[in-house]
Amino acid sequence: MRTPMIAGNWKLHKTLAESSALVRELMPAVAANQVVEIVVAPVFTALDKVAEAIAGSNIKLAAQNCYSQPQGAFTGEVSPPLLKDVGCQYVIIGHSERRQLFGESDELINSKAHALAKTGLGSILCIGETLDEREADQMFDVLRRQVRLGLKNLSAEQMAGVVIAYEPVWAIGTGKTASDAQAQEAHAFIRALLTELYDKPTANATRILYGGSVKPDNVDNLMSQPDVDGALVGGASLKAEDFARIVNFQTTT
Ligand code: 13P
Repeated sequence: MRTPMIAGNWKLHKTLAESSALVRELMPAVAANQVVEIVVAPVFTALDKVAEAIAGSNIKLAAQNCYSQPQGAFTGEVSPPLLKDVGCQYVIIGHSERRQLFGESDELINSKAHALAKTGLGSILCIGETLDEREADQMFDVLRRQVRLGLKNLSAEQMAGVVIAYEPVWAIGTGKTASDAQAQEAHAFIRALLTELYDKPTANATRILYGGSVKPDNVDNLMSQPDVDGALVGGASLKAEDFARIVNFQTTT
């Protein structure tokens, strides 16, 4: 009942020409796929160009970050209404790189989630524990805190626009994917938490993506886990052939 989502987070990669070349190669390779919601998140400067290239296709546009205010004296920031204006339907918030490298707090991330809901844009809220936290048995506490504070005061109705991405920090860009069982365990925990915070229908309707070294050769097994509803892909989304293979995953169950 949950539409799978495969989203490509291009991070800080690709010029205008490279961005449009990538989606132009991707489009025919995924055109026949009508079951997956396909999303790409280029850098801010390439959003307009990519929006133009994917117009009329089955690929949707996301931004990698936003600020919580619609406008004003906030030098260097970009707002949800401006991202909507350029054609975005989703915005990634709370990515671990933003938390770790730019000191983003759960409170700031929550303010972004509210701003996106108000603007009518979807959020892809990233959460995930570090290796130290996992080894110290704090994984569930960290996930609980990030979910609870990240979604604070969002209504069950607003949750319809929220996608959660579980990205264990130790699996990002390291080639170390969580095992299928580790991913399923975390996703089931997050879904149970959503039941506790909201209700069963909301928890059952919310998509939970896995992110962290998702590749063509591990996506099928990950997507076969009952609570894994999609993937947020970094490195492998920069190659059309690899990303298309991930989009066109084959579940094994
Ligand atoms: P990699 O797929 O490169 O590990 O990156 C994952 C990620 O951070 C997606 O947001």
